[in-house]
Amino acid sequence: MISFDKLTVPSQGERIKWVDDRLEVPDFPIIPVIEGDGIGADILPATRKVIDTAVKTAYQGKRKIAWFEIYAGEKAYWKYNNYLPQDTYQAIEHFLVALKGPLTTPVGGGFRSLNVTLRQHFDLYACVRPVKYIKGVPSPVKYPEQTDMVIFRENTEDVYAGIEWPQGTPEANEIISFLKERLGVKIRKDSGIGIKPISITGSKRLVRMAIKYALDHGRQSVTLVHKGNIMKFTEGAFRDWGYELAKEEFRGRIITQEEAGNSPLPPGKILVNDRIADNMFAQILTRTNEYDVIATTNLNGDYLSDAAAAQVGGLGLAPSANIGDRIAIFEATHGSAPKYAGLDMANPSSLILSACLMLEHIGWAEASKLVEQGIDQAIQAGQVTYDLARAIEGATKLSTSDFASAVVDKMGCFELTTQKAGPKSLPPPVYPQIEVGIK
Ligand code: NAI
Repeated sequence: MISFDKLTVPSQGERIKWVDDRLEVPDFPIIPVIEGDGIGADILPATRKVIDTAVKTAYQGKRKIAWFEIYAGEKAYWKYNNYLPQDTYQAIEHFLVALKGPLTTPVGGGFRSLNVTLRQHFDLYACVRPVKYIKGVPSPVKYPEQTDMVIFRENTEDVYAGIEWPQGTPEANEIISFLKERLGVKIRKDSGIGIKPISITGSKRLVRMAIKYALDHGRQSVTLVHKGNIMKFTEGAFRDWGYELAKEEFRGRIITQEEAGNSPLPPGKILVNDRIADNMFAQILTRTNEYDVIATTNLNGDYLSDAAAAQVGGLGLAPSANIGDRIAIFEATHGSAPKYAGLDMANPSSLILSACLMLEHIGWAEASKLVEQGIDQAIQAGQVTYDLARAIEGATKLSTSDFASAVVDKMGCFELTTQKAGPKSLPPPVYPQIEVGIK
């Protein structure tokens, strides 16, 4: 039995296990949860209320999450004198699936982002960001309802890996001299240096996850987004390795753009194509409905996921998951919004929808569907938090906790018409489809 320095594991509940390359999920899984800083204390209770109600409703009390509070950020500092204590690493490693509120990156002294540290420590190599329009949300584009994409962003490589040296340091100077003397490459002496590694391993495992997801979810296409016209051996190689992987591992289920030409997509197959990153930013605006699942490198994915989220009304509603081969952490996309901390004002939707991804990940899609419907209905009824209320005419401005209650009320309007559910393998899970309808 695992033991912790300052944590007590809930007595009711069992561990999610990794057995035969899949998750084995008990009916009362223990799920570690980090409240996070700032508005974490507002949005996490709201999220738990919505998720617990949905699970109870969907499974008539036969399933329940045993939440297990673990610590990171300021709360951890007070308890452990450490922003990311060993207990937290151990708990996530042991229980495999965790939910996390936003964490402030303390300013100063070369402090590394706790979020990045967690992703790197657990090798959570895919940042998965579904971007879908919720009716009623103010959007800057004409046809936001055409947006329904899932972005798989590589999380561990690229210039984002943090391999860099400041201008004028011995390291930077040494690299500049090495490049000049050994490879004949001239770089200005007063340059800072960053390294952009992109590997076969990192590229292929990311594209594999994206294609599996597309196949499991009945999606039409996977688009590899890169800047390979300029950076041939990193970005261009990402594209080439992506196609290679698609043909090697999914030959019977995919067709590439080159093979398909202008013919319609053969039944049962998905299209694998690619776009240059700059063009892709234009395409998601002008040909929105042609894009479905996207697999891309770290920096492109960073820009693209926020741009796509803006199309459907901004980050406040965008969920996110960081997924590795066994472990996954689900988190809101926004930060700790210190200005609104403790005011019961912040919009909890991003964290709630991230928890929905978590439910799908453990195979509890019915409960997830209920929550999504509840959020849709609350927003369509104009029952929203301050951030949306100011942009929706006639909206009722609700507090964080009242918004959660509104979502719960709206969930009551739906009835589950099927009861099929079960743990799914990772990555990525196959999410069972259910039908829900208004009573
Ligand atoms: P932020 O996302 O906290 O805030 C940006 C703007 O959006 C602010 O005006 C804020 O009030 C508003 N906002 C954010 N979440 C909201 C919500 N749920 N409802 C309503 N309004 C919301 O980004 P900022 O200010 O750049 O960062 C604050 C702290 O959060 C920093 O320490 C940063 O490092 C950290 N951060 C953490 C992230 C994470 O834990 N994944 C992600 C981004 C930032």
